[in-house]
Amino acid sequence: MRQHEWCFHRDLGPAKVWGYWAKNPNDPGKPLGMGYLGPTIAATRDHPTVVKYRNELPAGPHMFQFVLDRIRKGDPQLTPPPYHGMPPLPPNINVWNVVHQHGGFTPPQSDGMPLQWFSPKGVRGPSYTTLDPGKVAPNEAIYAYTNHERSAMLWYHDHAMGITSLNVYAGLAGLWRVGDPADERLGLPGGEFEVPLILQDRTFDEDGSLAYTMTQVEGADTPVVNGKAYPFLAVQPRRYRLRFLNGSNERFWRLRFQADRTVVPEENLPFWLIGTDGGFRRPLQMLNFLISPAERYDLVIDFGRLPMGAKVTLTNYNAPVHFPDGGGPEISEIMQFRVTEQLTGGGDPTTPPKELALPPVELVRPKPGTRRREWVVYQKGIFESMTFNGLPFMAPSEDFVKAGSSEIWEYINPNHDAHPMHVHLVNFQVLNRQPIDATAYQAAFQKWLDGGRRPADRPVLDRYVTGPPSPPDPDEAHSWKDTVRVYPESVTRIIIDEFDPPTARIASIPASGAELPATYVHHCHILEHEDDDLMRPWTIVTDHD
Ligand code: C2O
Ligand code: CU
Repeated sequence: MRQHEWCFHRDLGPAKVWGYWAKNPNDPGKPLGMGYLGPTIAATRDHPTVVKYRNELPAGPHMFQFVLDRIRKGDPQLTPPPYHGMPPLPPNINVWNVVHQHGGFTPPQSDGMPLQWFSPKGVRGPSYTTLDPGKVAPNEAIYAYTNHERSAMLWYHDHAMGITSLNVYAGLAGLWRVGDPADERLGLPGGEFEVPLILQDRTFDEDGSLAYTMTQVEGADTPVVNGKAYPFLAVQPRRYRLRFLNGSNERFWRLRFQADRTVVPEENLPFWLIGTDGGFRRPLQMLNFLISPAERYDLVIDFGRLPMGAKVTLTNYNAPVHFPDGGGPEISEIMQFRVTEQLTGGGDPTTPPKELALPPVELVRPKPGTRRREWVVYQKGIFESMTFNGLPFMAPSEDFVKAGSSEIWEYINPNHDAHPMHVHLVNFQVLNRQPIDATAYQAAFQKWLDGGRRPADRPVLDRYVTGPPSPPDPDEAHSWKDTVRVYPESVTRIIIDEFDPPTARIASIPASGAELPATYVHHCHILEHEDDDLMRPWTIVTDHD
């Protein structure tokens, strides 16, 4: 992790940014990285990767020190995000970091959870861990990854206690692709025709530097894709595979591809969704999609019917920063695809999406007796933190899941915004959503908290539902997910197939597997919510009652 300079646009001056750099095996003098974000790590399914992280960021002040200062003062005017109930930040340092691989099947000591942070000067968080402790300097940590996931686009990003939003905004995020050699037989667009797109929003000061504005408004005002503001991509008239990550702190996007009306009769270009967070799914033809922070959408789009010179604009519509309503600066145009390149290779050799032989996702169905677990998005008032179930992140884990078991998690959201909920370690499927009487539920839950949280008196969710359950959105049905949109005034149910701790060890590092009990976290992936305080630990145990 280093600080560097980066130009987000040719008309903007250089900005100070944070990013990841990797040692270049071919030329140690030329590390891999660009300054902002980080190099893509390309892994092969089930072939472990070991990474040594080194924190070479300036020891302080933080790039957004004013936010830290206000948090420490407990400034009641700091809204949104309302950082009021935040757990205390480390007192004597201003920069601390940790790296989490999002979507990974990772043992807890390598998971990069909030309290595992380490700082440039070598101060370490209360839960700091490293493999091979004899081989690390004070500002380093060694983590091991199983890559025991389906072929999918994961990502890695900062996860430091209380300031993840600031660290990621500064640039600490990158892609982690898990590939399966079998993918090559599918006939998907590959190489330069497979394009990862990290969508973010950023606000710039006049001199081109990054401004963190989320203390005053929701979201930022300029679209940034792979580190560039309003970029364009010159494409050939053929199929492309676009792999989207919403890497924004807060912003939901509803995306569509708008072709110049003069070149094609229909305005929106159709595309085929072929995968989501956790891997491939049955191809689904779509015209637009909603993507919340941390979600990934893998799609195939055909520019082949367009004439040379055609322009296709990726636009965002009908999705305020905090879906479904709420303020924040509107962003309507994001980037452009320009059909200006001659088709090489004499044609498009890829398989038409409809005919892709993608492995179907088998539905996980609840069995009688599958345990249900309720997570209430609870906020007493707008000047107070959001929590799960009224409990701060720092309160010890109360949720014990049995290794190998399956559970239904019910995210009960009585407030007015949608929240993208992410569970570490596992993939899950969306079961259904059901509307609730939000006001009545909130009041009952409040009363239950005030009454001392006696388990037997907990409000019974079934009494507050106001309609039948509705099935998952078409794009999330039959899909593996690690992040789910939890819509307002409803309950969103997911089913976690198996809590299967990664106990296998990496041969070269004997201590690299999980021991039980193993504690992980889940949280809202609106980073300002995660920091304050919509995140809870949960624990895998060998047995529980
Ligand atoms: Cu994308 Cu807990 O993280
Ligand atoms: Cu949230």
